[in-house]
Amino acid sequence: MIYFIKSKKRHFSYAQWNTYFEQNNAQRLLISFEDDRLTEKEKALIFPSICQFERGEYSDGRHLKRVADRFAAETQNKDYMHCIRWFIKEENAHSNYLKTYMEHYNVREKKHVILDHIFRQLRKLAGLRCEVIVLVTAEMIALSYYDALQHAAGSPALKAICRQMLHDEIPHISS
Ligand SMILES: [Fe+2]
Ligand SMILES: [Fe+2]
Repeated sequence: MIYFIKSKKRHFSYAQWNTYFEQNNAQRLLISFEDDRLTEKEKALIFPSICQFERGEYSDGRHLKRVADRFAAETQNKDYMHCIRWFIKEENAHSNYLKTYMEHYNVREKKHVILDHIFRQLRKLAGLRCEVIVLVTAEMIALSYYDALQHAAGSPALKAICRQMLHDEIPHISS
């Protein structure tokens, strides 16, 4: 999505991306916890990493918005500006899915996650290109993680969340 900033390989225009994000946002997952159970063993297995990814998915996007706005102004591309805002909104929705799941099982948020802190610092080291490289790296890790997580426990709610994450994340790095 945001990764082929100057490449001719980009398949969607930024205007098309905005339409995609808007439509995707109108079809957000409603998590059902009916008959959702986790064993103590499953809880111990999945929640330490879910807490970390919940943090990782959340961002106010201040730095990204700033560098993206600069790029949008330089290239006179308002669509890119809106696109980045939709992208941040979608990532925050991911954080909310995980937070909802954690709350259902009375798991508290982890405010300080070292790996998340490192990623955030790396993203701010330079301009838009640096942000994008670090984001792509994080996105690829996330893809493998949600794919593995959906098989890690018998919880239908968790499987639905992971499916939604994969549905949303794959276009972020492939289109
Ligand atoms: Fe995400
Ligand atoms: Fe993503």
